[in-house]
Amino acid sequence: MESIMPVAAADMPHSGVRLFADSSLRDPFADYRALRDLGPVVKLASPDVYVLSRYDDVREALRVSDVLISGEGVGFSEAFNAPKGNNVIQTDGETHKRLRAAVMRPLKPEQLEQARPRLKAMIAARVDELAGGGEFDAMRSLARFLPVEAIAHFVGLEAAGRERMLEWASAAFNAIGPEQDPKDVESLRSAFAYIMSLDASKVREDSWAGQLFQAARDGQLSFTEALGAISAYVIPSLDTTILAKGHLLYLLARDPEQWKLLRERPDWIPAAVFESVRHSSVIRWFARVAKTAHRVGDQIIPAGARVMLLYGSANRDERRYPDPDRFDIRRDARDQLAWGRGAHMCAGQYLARIEMEVMLEALVERGAALHAGEPVVGANKGLFGFSELAFRLG
Ligand code: HEM
Repeated sequence: MESIMPVAAADMPHSGVRLFADSSLRDPFADYRALRDLGPVVKLASPDVYVLSRYDDVREALRVSDVLISGEGVGFSEAFNAPKGNNVIQTDGETHKRLRAAVMRPLKPEQLEQARPRLKAMIAARVDELAGGGEFDAMRSLARFLPVEAIAHFVGLEAAGRERMLEWASAAFNAIGPEQDPKDVESLRSAFAYIMSLDASKVREDSWAGQLFQAARDGQLSFTEALGAISAYVIPSLDTTILAKGHLLYLLARDPEQWKLLRERPDWIPAAVFESVRHSSVIRWFARVAKTAHRVGDQIIPAGARVMLLYGSANRDERRYPDPDRFDIRRDARDQLAWGRGAHMCAGQYLARIEMEVMLEALVERGAALHAGEPVVGANKGLFGFSELAFRLG
């Protein structure tokens, strides 16, 4: 095994960059570049954390999931990190494998492909409605449409849960950062309280929640773990996909040459999806804790330190992607890190990809010209995306 030579603390670059300041949250890319240029690991003044911002280093950090662990929490706040143990994203090793296997069962590509035609028909009908009218908010009327309908139906939630899903999702991601808003913490509590109160006998048997309860009856999971796994469908599935669709629509509308290319070559739709999540990664970061010291280049992250993995920066790393700020669907971006990688790689990425692909297929088939205004960029501490996007289909 390679020995780890200690490096004097003075050698570690420090930065006063404030990633959670409002201005950085709304436009983080200059700060990301500054961090990448400083070195492979940078110690932030606030919060007290080591940051990895370059592609190769983030990818390697995701690979060594037994060293940089998730079980001590993947956020900074106790509110977010607290429900550990039955929450797939904040477990390690065998527990994680068992929970992930249960969560993944309905999310495998072959299962989800069966839902593709229905999802396509739903979004095509919505595109037809919108194409007949004037300007609309693309976030509210287009990006949000499928996730809420589809996820609530797949998971098997009753109306009471459906109504609050969006609020819960955005609160959870905002509460991941330091200095939480008490409203978000309260919202997160109510999400977990709702999920913990679900009555297994009232959930549709063929729904994702129904399948988890069945796995619990079969002894593969405890009931508490099944409830924790349901939160893995509800919390990370909505805002992520909604915001990713907003970026996709905006990037294509603002670059008519790329949109023309896609209309001529609809077989490039999957490539356009990968390139959009590379260019504008929705999940800004997740954290890990170093179980033992972790070497990055000639720097050492000490055992016990909290480490921030900046996915959004890694995907703009000029060391990996030439001209990284340019959106270009001809680029091969399949190795981007917007869905993470390794043990905790996004369990719902196939669903997200299908939702994004069918939206583009519907727009291409409709032959629509895309017109976007300037978006209103949100300041969620975990998610990068638009709260409003004025849009028109020509
Ligand atoms: C564009 C949309 C999405 C993005 C950008 C996204 C991004 C991510 C990322 C970066 C991770 C890695 C977490 C880590 O490294 O600790 C992750 C994990 C996860 N995602 Fe997603 N996600 C999306 C959609 C979804 C959907 C639709 C679902 C559910 C239906 C979902 C469920 C999960 C779950 C359960 C995990 C934890 C997996 C594990 O810890 O093994 N995500 N996601």
